[in-house]
Amino acid sequence: MQLGLADRYGRVATDLRVSLTDRCNLRCTYCMPAEGLDWLPKPELLTDDELIRLIGIAVTGLGVREIRFTGGEPLLRRGLVGIVGRTTSLTPRPEVSVTTNGIGLARQASALKAAGLDRVNVSLDTIRADTFQQLTRRARLDDVLAGLAAAHEAGLTPVKVNAVLMRGVNDDQAAELLEFCLEHGYELRFIEQMPLDAQHGWDRATMVTADEILEQLAGPFGLQPTGAAVRGSAPAETFTVRGGDRTVGIIASVTRPFCGDCDRVRLTADGQIRDCLFARTESDLRGAMRSGADDAELADRWRRAMWKKLPGHGINDPAFLQPARPMSAIGG
Ligand code: GTP
Ligand code: 5AD
Ligand code: SF4
Repeated sequence: MQLGLADRYGRVATDLRVSLTDRCNLRCTYCMPAEGLDWLPKPELLTDDELIRLIGIAVTGLGVREIRFTGGEPLLRRGLVGIVGRTTSLTPRPEVSVTTNGIGLARQASALKAAGLDRVNVSLDTIRADTFQQLTRRARLDDVLAGLAAAHEAGLTPVKVNAVLMRGVNDDQAAELLEFCLEHGYELRFIEQMPLDAQHGWDRATMVTADEILEQLAGPFGLQPTGAAVRGSAPAETFTVRGGDRTVGIIASVTRPFCGDCDRVRLTADGQIRDCLFARTESDLRGAMRSGADDAELADRWRRAMWKKLPGHGINDPAFLQPARPMSAIGG
């Protein structure tokens, strides 16, 4: 019998999120300071072969069925197409997706599709050029829109769009973002901002909540819950729009935590296992691997790592402390 990645609360991780780099070509204010961060030194990054070895152990030996590549910005990783191709060639074949800011996707979408990539999620918080510049500190809106269109065209579907609303910046733009996504065939999800920014500037009082977003959209768009059964362990609660089959999602990590159903585990670009976005400790697979550990030992370490997973993220506890690693180095 295969032993999976169970934790002491009975959850089993079957969804592995792999960060491929901590670098990014945007500087979203809710994520990074304008000057960027101290990037991981190259020797500390897993090589393509090391990555594939660990993903292979997860898929063939530990029951992982879904692989999500994240960053930083995963399209900045040289060799991404090859990494995707080697991942989709594993047996059993996992579902493979990428979460990206969309820059460069127009160029890479068809090669990624040919390598077997199933789908993409693209971050887009606004469709206004001035707000985009204010939020991301870069004038790249057109690249993102072109990336989205190319992904849709290439069949990397459903194309999902992730939007974080910031009070006083884009919180008046929820309806126009939704109209845009409905029109183009993208599945929009609004995300409550989480305390994971490098600057530690998160403030509960300024976070735009799921309730507020629903209050804005429910009437005008005739939103109806699709039902809890559909959600499963997915972070997004989904709503149908105007009685049709199109949906909009809300990822309410802070006000409606879903940790009890968590099926995720994370591998950082420098080879550390994080049992939770908000984990305060990590388990070093890179060091073990480079010291000669065999696959069975690595699998065993990985299983033991899950045993430290806490029941929830603790954001709502008065004693909550942000993890040392920022979102950009975890991969969301
Ligand atoms: P789909 O399977 O496509 O629905 O993916 P997803 O929504 O899980 O992934 P995506 O990378 O698009 O992430 C969207 C948002 O959900 C980001 O803000 C992530 O940080 C957040 N997110 C993803 N997984 C988790 C999780 O396990 N816990 C919490 N709290 N947030 C998560
Ligand atoms: N809180 C919630 N979501 C965030 N993202 C980045 N930083 C945060 C944060 N602090 C989103 C990005 C991207 C996804 C991986 O996570 O917009 O879509
Ligand atoms: Fe899972 Fe941690 Fe996310 Fe909760 S915050 S759903 S435990 S990864």
